[in-house]
Amino acid sequence: MISVIQADITKLDVDAIVNAANNSLLGGGGVDGAIHHAAGPELLRVCQSIGGCPTGEARITAGFLLTAKWVIHTVGPVWHGGGQNESDLLANAYQNSLELALEYNARSIAFPAISTGVYGFPKENAASIALSVIQRCENRFSEIICCCFCSEDRFIYERLLAEPD
Ligand code: APR
Repeated sequence: MISVIQADITKLDVDAIVNAANNSLLGGGGVDGAIHHAAGPELLRVCQSIGGCPTGEARITAGFLLTAKWVIHTVGPVWHGGGQNESDLLANAYQNSLELALEYNARSIAFPAISTGVYGFPKENAASIALSVIQRCENRFSEIICCCFCSEDRFIYERLLAEPD
């Protein structure tokens, strides 16, 4: 089942939440900052030992003080106008996060709108890419949540999800 909600992803009671991280995996602002704040300092210590993550790939850690058992850190592309393979890199970030979740037997997973904040990816385009990847994996999870942080994002996801395939 795919659901669209408007919430703070750090509060969700799911097996895994996905973090929109940067290549260093050493924290930042936005959802990255919120997840590190909620998970506690252990998360940063573990991330320091991972040694970074290339754009489009994903790494998994425990959730520490979060309700979620796992945090899947993925790095979306910075938007440079669309001519630098941004769409494929964003699709890879969703796909690699889902594959890692399956490897760790996570049955429920929540995504933020990766790359649409600081990284400037157009919201509608990003949501369409996200849903096309998520819908291909839908039956392998009990729930995949698109966790929007604002109503504008939620409306975009709800409208795209309601469109006939
Ligand atoms: N819960 C859910 N979504 C959130 C939360 C939250 N607590 N906080 C922010 N968001 C949303 C933003 O509103 C946006 O829709 O997450 C989406 C992604 O925005 P960013 O967090 O800015 O991530 P991104 O655009 O991928 O940029 C990543 O920002 O924070 C830094 O370290 C991070 O360098 C990296 C860059």
